[in-house]
Amino acid sequence: MGLRDRLAVDEQRHDDDNDLAKTYRERLLEEVDVDELARLSPSQRRVRLERVLSRILSVDGPVLSARERGALVQRITDDALGLGVLEPLLADESVTEIMVNGSQDVFVERYGKVERVPTRFASVEQLYQTIDRIVSQVNRRVDESSPMVDARLPSGERVNVIIPPLALDGPTLTIRRFPTPFRMGELVDKGTLDTGTASLLGACVRARLNIVVSGGTGSGKTTFLNALSGMIPDHERIVTIEDAAELSLQQSHVVRLESRPANVEGRGAVTVRELVRNTLRMRPDRIIVGEVRGGETMDMLQAMNTGHDGSVATVHANTARDALGRLETLASMSEIELPAATLRDQINSAIDLIVHLERAEDGSRRVVEVQAVTSQRREEFALTPLVRFARDPIGPDRTVTGTFVPSPAPKQLLERLHRAGETVPVAEPPVAEPVETAGGGTR
Ligand SMILES: Nc1ncnc2c1ncn2[C@@H]1O[C@H](COP(=O)(O)OP(=O)(O)O)[C@@H](O)[C@H]1O
Ligand SMILES: [Mg+2]
Repeated sequence: MGLRDRLAVDEQRHDDDNDLAKTYRERLLEEVDVDELARLSPSQRRVRLERVLSRILSVDGPVLSARERGALVQRITDDALGLGVLEPLLADESVTEIMVNGSQDVFVERYGKVERVPTRFASVEQLYQTIDRIVSQVNRRVDESSPMVDARLPSGERVNVIIPPLALDGPTLTIRRFPTPFRMGELVDKGTLDTGTASLLGACVRARLNIVVSGGTGSGKTTFLNALSGMIPDHERIVTIEDAAELSLQQSHVVRLESRPANVEGRGAVTVRELVRNTLRMRPDRIIVGEVRGGETMDMLQAMNTGHDGSVATVHANTARDALGRLETLASMSEIELPAATLRDQINSAIDLIVHLERAEDGSRRVVEVQAVTSQRREEFALTPLVRFARDPIGPDRTVTGTFVPSPAPKQLLERLHRAGETVPVAEPPVAEPVETAGGGTR
């Protein structure tokens, strides 16, 4: 039975089903040999439970259609084994986020859009049971003394649980799953960027430019960072540093690091910043920082300025220009007090390119700006656009369309790409070139 059918059945026969499910779950647990069950693999366990349950139902079950009976069997085994009513949602590949707000409100995210689903827990106790089952997989527990848990499941999903009294309307569970990552070609197919922009960025990655991917929450930064990192040549040693590991690089030589929050006694935290510092002793060819949020920004800039070219990071910002300002603010959060001009110097010499993403109102994500940082040393920040997304007027179907408009690349950037042996797939500079800024040389 398809998911939609199951959900519809769930909705319609909700109360009846709860009573039935409860009765037969108890019967099942009486009849099944729990010790034997423990020795089976998860899939064998499911088959075994389904078999015993079918026997019970055919001997003295209620009169049900084949379809109703199938749904009941699945529901009871889901309850007995897995994550109960959440199982069908987890089985649905298109669901990227499951949000449970108390026992009666469940939302999912599909293709970037959040919608309510008819899934409900029979009771708050049942929701607690599911939560316990999830967090016990990673040897954690949730109760009044530790009412918040953030964990990554062995299967890769991120799980956050917060319960009353902190969550006012009941236990709240958020499961974030990571869809199979997009490759750059797939992002081109989806219209996130065009082929010209993709090959320009490919050349910049291979020529070891330091790149910052910026955008708002959910604009697709992490997804893009992953695709961009996919353009790094396979023989290089890549170290990725994240707060919550989301990246999944395909190269053969990748070391993945993840920060760790403090334990209940407030000890044992390892920050992104410490990981960045440690990485410098790991002989990386490239450092990839999932997202810079604080003092680690300074360490990242220093790493970029001391021979770790070709590094990439994301930052939360509203425009490419704003990204530079954010980096400045974040870098100033480190304990090293630096004059503003010195900070600008660090940023100007570290960052070569900013790729800014936006989530449009129709849910599509797009590269809206690619900008080269052309200011030098202590100068005020200056950006030179390489590509801009020019939007068409919005049509009657409300979908966002437009064109990626390339601009001539600054001479320095072209030279750098040429030196790295890259043929540059961008508009060449116009004949009358703008006057070069002071200090324009190579680094
Ligand atoms: N280019 C894209 N096109 C369509 N959906 C995307 C794209 N990039 C990301 N998404 C989806 O948007 C959501 C948020 O993406 P993510 O990369 O985590 O954003 P951010 O890191 O900016 O918060 C995910 O569900 C992801 O699958
Ligand atoms: Mg992200």
